[in-house]
Amino acid sequence: MRRSIRSLLVATAAVALVLPLWAAHAASAAPPGFSNADKDALRNQAPRDLAVGSAVWAQQQLVGYDRKAPTEFQQVLAGQFSSLSPENDMKWDAVHPAPDVYDFTSADALVAFAKANHQQVRGHTLLWHNQNPAWVTAASATWTCDDARAVLEDHIRTVVGHFKGEIYEWDVANEIFQDEWDNGGVRLRTQANPFLKACADDPVALLVDAFRWAHEADPDAVLFLNDYNAEGINTKTDAYYALAQQMLADGAPLGGFGAQGHLSLLYGFDTSIQANFERFADLGLQVAVTEADVRIPLLDGQTGPTPEQIAVQAERYDAMLQACLNVTACSSFTVWGFSDAYSWVPGVFPGEGWATITDEEFTPKPAFDALLESLRDATPGTSPRVG
Ligand code: XIL
Repeated sequence: MRRSIRSLLVATAAVALVLPLWAAHAASAAPPGFSNADKDALRNQAPRDLAVGSAVWAQQQLVGYDRKAPTEFQQVLAGQFSSLSPENDMKWDAVHPAPDVYDFTSADALVAFAKANHQQVRGHTLLWHNQNPAWVTAASATWTCDDARAVLEDHIRTVVGHFKGEIYEWDVANEIFQDEWDNGGVRLRTQANPFLKACADDPVALLVDAFRWAHEADPDAVLFLNDYNAEGINTKTDAYYALAQQMLADGAPLGGFGAQGHLSLLYGFDTSIQANFERFADLGLQVAVTEADVRIPLLDGQTGPTPEQIAVQAERYDAMLQACLNVTACSSFTVWGFSDAYSWVPGVFPGEGWATITDEEFTPKPAFDALLESLRDATPGTSPRVG
């Protein structure tokens, strides 16, 4: 019989009703609907210093959160994960819709939810070529590098400053390199990214300053470079490795390298992810899996994945987690949404789906079980409260 998170919710809620006061107090660190004795929660099985996260679109799922009456989605999010990433809520178009307007409504809702449920927050993202507001796209047509720098500096100082002390890791720069198959090959996106474009004469100087502004606004946040197709050792991660060395030599407060981990069964899996993480760790950086999901191609008429596809998906998720567990500098492992009910995949990759670790009703898939098992194995001895 498949274990269902829903049945666990019901069971733990029932226990909570009969707990004596002292026990209720002792369990108060647990998220609603879960007790600290929940041995089936990813967050409870993680080695002490590894954050296990999920992305969530706060505007859709968390605004209006009532701690006393959480939705089922919110209960699972709170119960399973120790870290949240804003799927869209901290992107430029969400927080900076007009030149002089900052709007933190849904991002604040995410931070409030995280606080209420003893979760950390990964900030995402400050410099990217996508999801920029129309005013940036329009204005950037005539930007000098100084114009671009002024806009970016104001944004970074304002946004990072707003969340000062609330965010443990920030994806400062996202997807700043092109891919091998793009026109021009692997190189900084000085065409698609409006800020890098305006400063194409010396884009690294802009990156160094972007990290410096973020660091000044929140010295405690660890500042990341982040990208897809950045799991294994390849031409793109070679470029990141060289960039990281250069930025560090230039005094940038660069603290981490994130591999998004958006995989697809249409392609192979590069097993050099651990070796890749190790080389960045050797530079003194943290590493992280920041947006894991594993898409499955579903042919026309195929109602669900085959048992083999399901098994391979679990292996891929687990391989990414293993690399993280095996490198002590790996600080967080985040899935890009935990349920197929809200996954970005079907909308963006036609013909692919089933990419997350629980189905649309939050029932764990083998991928979920594989992650839980590996976290358990990595934790020497479980809490005596686990029974
Ligand atoms: C995606 C979100 O999941 C979607 O809801 C949105 O429509 C587009 O962006 N890499 C990233 C993320 O760094 O910000 C992207 O998130 C997925 C790819």
